[in-house]
Amino acid sequence: MDFKEKYGSWGLITGASAGLGTCYARAMAEMGLNLVLVARREERLHQLAEELEKTNGIKTLCLPLDLTEEAAIEILGAKTSSLEIGLFVNNAGFGYLNSFLEQKDSNISKMIRLNCEIPARLSRLFLAPMAERKRGGMIVLASAAAYLPTPPMSVYGATKGFDLLLGESLAMEMRSFNVDVLVVSPGHTDTEFHGVAGAQSAVVGGTACPEDVVKQSFRLLGKRISFVHGVHNFFLTWLTRFVPRSVVARLSFLALKNR
Ligand SMILES: NC(=O)c1ccc[n+]([C@@H]2O[C@H](COP(=O)([O-])OP(=O)(O)OC[C@H]3O[C@@H](n4cnc5c(N)ncnc54)[C@H](OP(=O)(O)O)[C@@H]3O)[C@@H](O)[C@H]2O)c1
Repeated sequence: MDFKEKYGSWGLITGASAGLGTCYARAMAEMGLNLVLVARREERLHQLAEELEKTNGIKTLCLPLDLTEEAAIEILGAKTSSLEIGLFVNNAGFGYLNSFLEQKDSNISKMIRLNCEIPARLSRLFLAPMAERKRGGMIVLASAAAYLPTPPMSVYGATKGFDLLLGESLAMEMRSFNVDVLVVSPGHTDTEFHGVAGAQSAVVGGTACPEDVVKQSFRLLGKRISFVHGVHNFFLTWLTRFVPRSVVARLSFLALKNR
């Protein structure tokens, strides 16, 4: 599929400085899309922008922003108002692997803001003009963790549950506007996420490479509204429908508590 023709010539990725965001940026640059790159680490954004401009001959705009800051959405809106953002990857997010009682209020607020409030408000910011143009696409990063309780990553799992339901609902709302929305739910993927979360070891079932998650996202955008990446993760999340919630919560706790 010619993504540039279908969605428009500009894409925007939040959390482009690392992990899945960088991989989405590389894949979209290969499609010939000009890119707006958003994250806090300015130097990384500029390095990536230089690489993508050189390799793919595209234009880039780096917006170093902490999305949890009050003015971030306004700034993002103002800096991109003259660009037709046709493909938006709602990706920036983080989690903490820590007992709930040991988490600081400020961390809980920041996580809920970055993982829930910001994706919802940015969806509105970029979907509204797409709906007017009657074309566009959005990818929302949820997680396999969205499908089950995730003690002791309790708040993180809950924020991803929000993203899953938000994205799947928006997929339906946007259908009549010819705008595709896809919710992507990766399992354990090899990015900086786990270091940031404070995890010491991997989970059962292995680690996926972020390029695979991205490849499958673009294969399914416009065809499905949601997918769980990896057979193992798909099977686990599917199984949770048939097992009592208390058993799912207990097994999840056993799997995650010593990470
Ligand atoms: N890796 C996994 O196993 C996994 C599994 C399921 C779902 N996910 C989801 O995938 C998405 C991407 O995660 P990842 O694995 O690629 O993690 P990552 O490698 O840690 O990347 C996270 C990105 O988010 C950006 N970010 C963090 N806080 C930010 C803030 N306050 N303002 C702006 N940008 C911010 C980071 O950039 P700066 O630090 O430069 O700001 C970075 O570019 C997340 O939503 C995560 O929940 C990941």
